[in-house]
Amino acid sequence: MARLDPHSYNDSDQPSAHHLQWRTTVDFQTRTLRAEATLHFREHVTGPIDLDTRALHILSVCDAGDRPIAYQLGEPDAILGTRLHLDVSAPTDRVTVSYRTSPNSSALQWLEPAQTSGVHPFLFSQCQAVHARSVVPLQDTPRIRITYEATLTVPASLRALMAASFVRRVEDADTASEEYAMRDPIPPYLFAFAVGDLVARDVGPRSRVWAEPRVVERASWEFAHVDAMLTAAEGLFGPYDWGRFDILTMPSSFPYGGMENPCLTFITPTLLAGDRSLVNVVAHELAHSWTGNLVSNANQEHFWLNEGFTVYAERRILELLEGPDLAALHAAVGWQELQATVAEFKNSPALTRLRTHLSGIDPDETYSIVPYEKGYLFLCALERAAGRDRFDAFLRHYLRTWRFCSITTDQFLETASKELGDLLDSVDAHAWLEGEGVPSTAPIPRSRRLDDVSVHVKRFTASASEAMEDCVPEAAAVGDWSVSEWQLFLERLPRPLPRGVCAILDERFPLTDVANPEILFTWLALAIRSGYVDVLPRVERALGEVGRMKFLKPLYQALVSTEATKFDAVRIYDRYRATYHPIAQQVLDGVMAPARASA
Ligand code: BES
Ligand code: ZN
Repeated sequence: MARLDPHSYNDSDQPSAHHLQWRTTVDFQTRTLRAEATLHFREHVTGPIDLDTRALHILSVCDAGDRPIAYQLGEPDAILGTRLHLDVSAPTDRVTVSYRTSPNSSALQWLEPAQTSGVHPFLFSQCQAVHARSVVPLQDTPRIRITYEATLTVPASLRALMAASFVRRVEDADTASEEYAMRDPIPPYLFAFAVGDLVARDVGPRSRVWAEPRVVERASWEFAHVDAMLTAAEGLFGPYDWGRFDILTMPSSFPYGGMENPCLTFITPTLLAGDRSLVNVVAHELAHSWTGNLVSNANQEHFWLNEGFTVYAERRILELLEGPDLAALHAAVGWQELQATVAEFKNSPALTRLRTHLSGIDPDETYSIVPYEKGYLFLCALERAAGRDRFDAFLRHYLRTWRFCSITTDQFLETASKELGDLLDSVDAHAWLEGEGVPSTAPIPRSRRLDDVSVHVKRFTASASEAMEDCVPEAAAVGDWSVSEWQLFLERLPRPLPRGVCAILDERFPLTDVANPEILFTWLALAIRSGYVDVLPRVERALGEVGRMKFLKPLYQALVSTEATKFDAVRIYDRYRATYHPIAQQVLDGVMAPARASA
C-alpha cells in the first residue's frame, strides 16, 4: 500500500483508470448534477479500488456486465473528502458509479441570474487543487492522468462548454445535450465545464472568446491579441499540442484570475480593463499549456513545477510581445510581493520552500505566490548561470522528456542535472528547493521603471509622518505610470499612512474612483490600514462586485486588522458570503474567524 499523494486516497498498488465516460444532467432547480461516471481500466481488474469523492450521494456501482459492485463510503475528512472503497469481485475492465452531487459541491458555483450579466442562471466548476472529486468520483491525483468523453444535458436556452474538444450539440424539446472529448491524458484537476448564456467571437484561427452576450464585445477586444501570444509561445516552447486555445470570460464571482483549463482557459472579468493592461494573466494561462498541462506536478507538494515554470514562461512571452522593460516591471512587482509574503509566513516558514510537505494541510488554505515568484527566481538563476540559449534548449528538452507526464521535483532534478550538470550546484539548487525564504544569491529583478517609482517611494520612507503630505507626487510626475507602476508605488508606501496623506493622494489621483481593479484594491487595502475610512462605501461595493480571492483576501484582512473596521468586516462578509465560490467561502471563513470570535 502506497499513498503517493497526501491529498488523495489513491493507493498506488491498485489499478489506475485511464479513461472516463461521464454523462450528467444539470438541474438548476435543485442545484445538483445527476450523473454517471464510468472509469475504464486497460485490463480486467479485481480487488480493492479506492476512489476520491467529496459530498457525493452514491446511488449504485456496477461492473461492465451491469452487476453490482460492493462498496463502502468512509468518514468524510475536511481536506481529503470521503473515500469510496470498491470491492471488485469479478474481473471487469470498467466500473460505473451512478450518483448525485450535493448543492454545496466544493468545485461548483451555481449562480442566480442576478449574479450574471444577463437573465439566465450560470454554473461553473473549479477543480484545482482537489475539488474534481466533488464532481466526479475518481482517482483525484494529478499522477493518474485520464482521457474523457462527456455529455452534459442542460436547459435548451443555455450552452454547456467543456475544456475539451467539442463533438456535437443535440437539441430536444426543452433540453440540449452537448458532447465533448478530451483525447489527451490530463490530470483530473483540469476537468472543467461551464453552463450559461454564452456566445463567442473568433479572435484568431485557433482562438475564440466566449462570454455572456453583454460582455462578449468587450472581452473579445481585450483578448484580441491571443493569437500573437500563441505564436510567440510556440517559438519559445515548441508546438502547441491542444488544438484550440479558447478563452471563457467568467462571471465576476470566479475565484481566480485565470485557470488553465485545456483548450478553454477560464478568465476573470476583472481583466476587462479596456486597455489590455492585464493580459499577462492570459499569457500565464496560455503558458500552462506547456508548463502544467503538458508537464504537470505529480501532486501539490511539487506545485512550484507548475507555477514557477509558468511565471517564467509568462514573462518570456511578455518580453517578446511587450518588451523587456515591461517584463522586468512585472518581475519587480513579483519580487516585492514575494518579500511581503515570506514575511507573512514567518510563523510557518516551511511553506516558503519550493518542495513542500503537505500531509494534513489544505492546499487552498496555504495557497500563496511563493511557488510562483520563488520558482520564477530559481529558474532565472539557472538561466543566468547557463546563458539564455543553453537554458532555452534545456527547457525544450525538459518539456519533450516529460510530455503528458506528472512529475516530482526529483524528476525535474534528474533532467536538469543531466542537461545542466554542475550549474545546479553553482546556483545552490538545494537551497532553492528545500530551503526556507529566498536565498541571498537571488537575482533581484532590476527595472528602470521600478527605479523611477522607488524615487517617489523613498521620499515617503525617508520622511517623518508630519512631512509626508509634501511627498505626494505631482500629477505630471506620474502621468505615464502603468498599472504595475501604480501597484508598486502603493504597495511600497509605508503603512499606516497618515490619513491626511491618504486624502491628498485620493484627491490628486481619484484613486477611490479608479476603475482598474489592481490599483483599486491595492489602494483600498492601504486606505483601510491607514484608518482612511472615507473609502468604506467603495470597499463595501467592491467586495460585492468581485469574487476573485486575490482581491478579496487582502481587503478583508485589512478590514479585520483594525478595530475601526472589524465590525464592518463581519457585516460586509455576512452580506456577501453566499455570492462567493465555495472555495473562496472556505478561505475567507478562515480570514474572518478571529474577527468573528471577538465580535
Ligand atoms: N492554476 C492557477 C490557479 C489555481 C492555482 C487555482 C491553485 C487553484 C489552485 C492559475 O494558473 C494561476 O496561477 N492564476 C493566477 C494568475 C497570475 C499568477 C498571472 C491568478 O489567478 O491570479
Ligand atoms: Zn498558474
